[in-house]
Amino acid sequence: MNTPQHVAIIMDGNGRWAQQRGQARTSGHRKGVEAVRQAVKSAGELGIKYLTLFAFSSENWRRPQNEVNDLMNLLKIFVRRDLAELHRENVRVRVIGDRKSLKSDILSLLTEAEELTRENRAQELIIAFNYGGRDDITRAARLLAIQAARGEIDPSSINEDALSRALDTSDVPDPDLVIRTSGEQRISNFLIWQAAYAEFVFLPCLWPDFGRADFEEALRQYAGRKRRFGAVAEQDLALGS
Ligand code: IPE
Ligand code: IPE
Ligand code: MG
Repeated sequence: MNTPQHVAIIMDGNGRWAQQRGQARTSGHRKGVEAVRQAVKSAGELGIKYLTLFAFSSENWRRPQNEVNDLMNLLKIFVRRDLAELHRENVRVRVIGDRKSLKSDILSLLTEAEELTRENRAQELIIAFNYGGRDDITRAARLLAIQAARGEIDPSSINEDALSRALDTSDVPDPDLVIRTSGEQRISNFLIWQAAYAEFVFLPCLWPDFGRADFEEALRQYAGRKRRFGAVAEQDLALGS
């Protein structure tokens, strides 16, 4: 089966999961962390080298303050509790997103996770936290503009490659597959540049219920897709000749 090298997931539906049970939204987020653990494990077993998880968007600050606090705390709990195990499993952890507005305790935890796991090569877990695709592109453009103004680069040398390298994902291959749970069918400002040619799979399950079988279902759908990248598939060319 054709396995994607990089899978990115929009983990959606925690609030609805809790609502369906008459519980507060935060219990859905808490349960969602268990699904995160399971997804990282499944990705390793299924031979997926890069897994990017959308944990907090640059627009999620619009939520009530107590929910924002819960989400920040859950990230801290996840890193504190799971970092040693991830390191043992030879997983490299990285974080993408704007770090400027994060509190210093979260920042130092994230840096610690990245530094500890820097040399790990079995698998990569990329956590998108305070991440927005437009923000990513804007920060990259600003960086290139600053370098150009300082005379470090020639503005006319700025091409797609240069912009890609200035993004948070500079040395990560583009996602092959983007999965979104909860039945919503939109990108919500996730990897908008990087997912230009990704395949999309939308699953009805809510994120806290996402398990190994759902992951396999998404991979099955991916394996049945024909990626053309704007070209004509080799076998179709042969048919017409
Ligand atoms: C996804 O679940 C988690 C985050 C966005 C942080 P939601 O909290 O968006 O759940 P719904 O969409 O309200 O059900
Ligand atoms: C996208 O989900 C962000 C994350 C999963 C972290 P949202 O629930 O915030 O997206 P919208 O608001 O429904 O588009
Ligand atoms: Mg949502």
